[in-house]
Amino acid sequence: MSVMADHWVENHRRDGWRRQAKAGGYRARSAFKLKQIQARFELMREGDVVLDVGCHPGGWTQVAVETVGEHGVVVGIDLQATQPLEGATLLTGDVTDPYTQQRLLDVLAGREVNAIVSDISPDITGNWDIDQSVALDLVAMVFDFGLPRLAPGGALVTKLFQGIGVEELIGCVRPHFSKVRRFSPDASRNSSSEVYLVCRNHTPWSAPSATVGTRFEALMSQRLDVPDDEVDATPSGFRVVRRGSGQD
Ligand SMILES: C[S@@+](CC[C@H](N)C(=O)[O-])C[C@H]1O[C@@H](n2cnc3c(N)ncnc32)[C@H](O)[C@@H]1O
Repeated sequence: MSVMADHWVENHRRDGWRRQAKAGGYRARSAFKLKQIQARFELMREGDVVLDVGCHPGGWTQVAVETVGEHGVVVGIDLQATQPLEGATLLTGDVTDPYTQQRLLDVLAGREVNAIVSDISPDITGNWDIDQSVALDLVAMVFDFGLPRLAPGGALVTKLFQGIGVEELIGCVRPHFSKVRRFSPDASRNSSSEVYLVCRNHTPWSAPSATVGTRFEALMSQRLDVPDDEVDATPSGFRVVRRGSGQD
């Protein structure tokens, strides 16, 4: 197929999801991604407590509310204010900010979370290496904030940006769950490299003591700690970007 034809098929498919989202009353076509993930893996059940990270404009939150029903609890968080949605508590703030994390804990009021659904994606700078490393840092943080709240047997699904560091991050996450796999819903099979990491059956008893973020950063530093003359042989300029300290 020609590039033009590829684009036509892709746009047509996206329009299809957009139309369906509108017809189904969903705020975003991304709702279908979570619906497809849910249909395949049943991460949420009726009556569950669900945390939706990076929830704006609320498509995934709508799917979570539908799934857990009136006895469930859904808490959403995003940097951007999300329009109120019946059946959900929506917070505005940065999930990496301790103040926002405390507000989340206050809303959860000691309840364990059965499922964490995260579609979080950082602002794109256009520099693929930096964007991808910031995105992976953010995902590691979602695990580190979420895991202590996640019930044994619970699930966590998060958007993942494919590229350097992904295997290391997945390796850091594996000991926390008995099942970890990548899944690409039809609704997101587009030209981007978007994939979701689906983690099931939380096994807190087998968790290492160091955080996911610490282990991930150590692995990436090890990987990048190579003599100068070997660096040129590496095709990508992936750098570990530490929040607040610019880039290494
Ligand atoms: C793809 S959108 C989510 C779409 C949503 N799942 C839906 O179905 O409507 C990704 C969201 O992540 C949010 N985000 C990025 N970084 C964040 C952070 N540090 N804290 C909270 N939200 C963040 C963005 O504001 C953005 O709204």
